[in-house]
Amino acid sequence: MSAPGFLHSVLTQPLQPSQCARRPWVTLTYAQSLDARIAGAGGKQLILSGKESMLMTHWMRTMHDGILVGIGTALNDNPQLNTRHVPNNTSLPAPRPIILDPYLRLPPTCKLLTNYAARTGRRPWIFCSPSAPPAQRTLLEKAGAVLFDIPTVLNGNGLDIQAMLDVLHEKGIKSLMVEGGQRVISSFYAARDTEGRPIVDALIVTVAPTLVGAAGVGVALDGAEKTLTLKHLRTEIMGKDTVVACQVVADA
Ligand SMILES: NC(=O)c1ccc[n+]([C@@H]2O[C@H](COP(=O)([O-])OP(=O)(O)OC[C@H]3O[C@@H](n4cnc5c(N)ncnc54)[C@H](OP(=O)(O)O)[C@@H]3O)[C@@H](O)[C@H]2O)c1
Repeated sequence: MSAPGFLHSVLTQPLQPSQCARRPWVTLTYAQSLDARIAGAGGKQLILSGKESMLMTHWMRTMHDGILVGIGTALNDNPQLNTRHVPNNTSLPAPRPIILDPYLRLPPTCKLLTNYAARTGRRPWIFCSPSAPPAQRTLLEKAGAVLFDIPTVLNGNGLDIQAMLDVLHEKGIKSLMVEGGQRVISSFYAARDTEGRPIVDALIVTVAPTLVGAAGVGVALDGAEKTLTLKHLRTEIMGKDTVVACQVVADA
């Protein structure tokens, strides 16, 4: 068994080779309902993807060096960010789990750290603010996390994504899969590099045939001054779900 062929074509034709020489390739991906909700009321985790698109997502993870979520998702969903649905996954590369956690709210008992301690998961990297509490730093480092201090952005919308990508590039992460949640997705839609170009290269959205309702958590693009310009590459039917894959056009 191997990764769905369309993933190779979507993830291996960089439209922005010059940018990718200086930062990781960034794939933004998430699952949403027909009414564009990624979680239920109050952030309740929903399993929107069916087994076929879930497997596709895990294959996609094997094709990236890093997988990133925000602390909201880490606390709410306690994810493992591994490739467990892929058959014989131990022979394939697993991405580095990466968390954006300015104030180090991640508990040392989370699955990412207990899996690392049990040698069933890779060592998580946490990006935090220089003003994160020292006691929490000690706890998380003791539990195995590697911490990176980066600046927060001036408008108070979290950590500086460009600064994080610089560190990841320096550490050899050539491709990054961003899986959520809501605030992180908005930040990646809005983020631009120092020359004003988008920092997302590919967008892969799974649409599940279900409605969540107005109380659910939706994806908001309101942080972005300009929306992204997309080049549609593929639409795939996976079981009951539709997976739409686009690349971002550099001059948006
Ligand atoms: N359907 C899907 O595909 C999918 C995937 C993942 C998650 N989800 C859902 O998404 C929800 C969680 O979303 P969320 O918005 O609460 O949390 P989130 O986006 O996972 O994390 C947001 C937090 O990350 C930190 N952060 C640091 N730098 C940031 C930056 N530049 N931009 C944005 N955040 C930054 C902030 O922490 P501080 O608050 O500590 O400053 C922020 O509050 C859950 O309901 C989860 O189930 C759905």
